[in-house]
Amino acid sequence: SQSPATAAAPASNVLAVAKPAGQLTIIYASQTGNAKGVAEALQQQAQAQDIAVKLVSAGDFKGKNLTKETHVIIVASTHGEGEAPDDAIELHEFLQSKKAPKLPDLHYAVIGLGDSSYEFFCQTAKDFDQYLAKLGAQPMLERLDCDVDYDAAAAEWQLQVLEKTQQTLSTAEAEVVQLPVGQHQAATTVYNKHHPFSASLSVSQKITGRGSDKDVRHIEIDLEESGLTYQPGDALGVWFENDPQLADTILAKLGLEADTSVDIDGGTLSLRDALITKYEITASNPQFVTKYAELSGSKKLQKLVADREKLREYAAKTQIIDVLAEKKTALTAEQLIGLLRRLTPRLYSIASSQQEVGEEVHLTVGVVEFEKADEPRQGGASSFLAQRLEQGGAVKVFVEANNNFKLPVDDNTPVIMIGPGTGIAPFRAFVQERENREASGKNWLFFGDRTFTEDFLYQVEWQKYLKSGVVTQMDVAFSRDQAEKVYVQQRILEQAAQVWQWLQQGAHVYVCGDATHMAKDVHQALLIVIEQQGNKTREQAEQYLNELRKTKRYQRDVY
Ligand code: 2AM
Repeated sequence: SQSPATAAAPASNVLAVAKPAGQLTIIYASQTGNAKGVAEALQQQAQAQDIAVKLVSAGDFKGKNLTKETHVIIVASTHGEGEAPDDAIELHEFLQSKKAPKLPDLHYAVIGLGDSSYEFFCQTAKDFDQYLAKLGAQPMLERLDCDVDYDAAAAEWQLQVLEKTQQTLSTAEAEVVQLPVGQHQAATTVYNKHHPFSASLSVSQKITGRGSDKDVRHIEIDLEESGLTYQPGDALGVWFENDPQLADTILAKLGLEADTSVDIDGGTLSLRDALITKYEITASNPQFVTKYAELSGSKKLQKLVADREKLREYAAKTQIIDVLAEKKTALTAEQLIGLLRRLTPRLYSIASSQQEVGEEVHLTVGVVEFEKADEPRQGGASSFLAQRLEQGGAVKVFVEANNNFKLPVDDNTPVIMIGPGTGIAPFRAFVQERENREASGKNWLFFGDRTFTEDFLYQVEWQKYLKSGVVTQMDVAFSRDQAEKVYVQQRILEQAAQVWQWLQQGAHVYVCGDATHMAKDVHQALLIVIEQQGNKTREQAEQYLNELRKTKRYQRDVY
């Protein structure tokens, strides 16, 4: 562990603290920033309790240094098919390898962030927990696997784990060291998830054609006076409100009074307002189905609950009101609220560069809308942004940095961007940024969507960039313009020689969009390119691509 002492600091700027024999290191493995947020909260609380604490990204932590640690808390999110976040891949691999050292003196705890709608729920956290236990480390507290609405559970776990940390940290050999006092906090307000900025909507424009089956919006939000800044690749967190009509429908179905008082977050709200502003009432989820199966006594739901796989499938294709409709049950306001998840903000990949748009932020939002049982159904955040929020209306936002999706530092580096559908969003930001920076590196864009005439998102802008040479090359795949489907990955394969050439020139590869199918298929296409063009075996190609990933030359923002 490192010494926090600094001899050079002037006397007026030092603070004497008792340094216990051990110290706490919090390691976060974050893809979108949630795990980092939880880790930072832990760090702050630890500091408040005078625990010597260090916060580090898994990407900056060498696994072999675990032998020097006394207390470690790992905060790990999981993405895709149970994969570790890009930053954590190396540490994750190391701990399960033969090189991993025995860790009998290490006290540890793991908290996982995930989404229980996925099969490999919190897998990365489970792995870390298992690897550390196997290396002989001592658990301070049972691992907590958090679902998407993790705030309350994580806060409770945080208190418990820090109590255990205090107990196991020996203060016997306390010595006095000097710590530099941090620079004065900037006087400006810092907006974040829990203190969002109330911004206003300035533009909401449908950018798919009349004939399109999809409603994709170009959204512009005014950030003036917020001091909020972002980098291309970052996301905007959007707090939304539910459709009041949907809240009314749910209340009516359950025979509940809209103005029943409910206590929440230390205040009192009407049940209706609570449903609109505090709880998720659109998409269903496995927990909700499980709890409602029990409360309602529905045989059908109880059968589903017994089979994890079926439960997940069912939850994925239903909304809250579908589940309630399975069996009419009288619920109290408290019971209803006990079933629901707390509202969580949605993260949208930012579609603009501040070099281009200043104090604005642009998004590309696919509106979720479909029909079920002859009723119109909507998504939560997208329908709020596209339908219920009026021009000039207020929307609470914050910036969620994504350090795993960043342009190369060197402006000469070529970039390959693969972003079908709304996956195009961050690449609009990338290209704006590179144009403004007058970056000399080449830019190659792969885009795909259903049809050329109706779904070519930002077509005019791409034409302009192609003409000016900012976009060096653009390959498009319009899947439904011909009898046979064509997708971006086919374009990649058709251009295999050139893709390989760019890779040889040091190109960075970025993929944004659908995780379930597209990102996997694109990954396979890249492997084929490397295999064929680089004369490699499949295994060597995988190693090559893994190496790109580790060196941040292959970055993905997929959902
Ligand atoms: P489809 O809906 O016509 O099948 C953006 O949504 C585009 O991504 C659409 O053209 C869609 O095609 C396409 N798409 C669907 N599945 C895909 C996959 N596995 N790989 C790449 N693109 C895909």
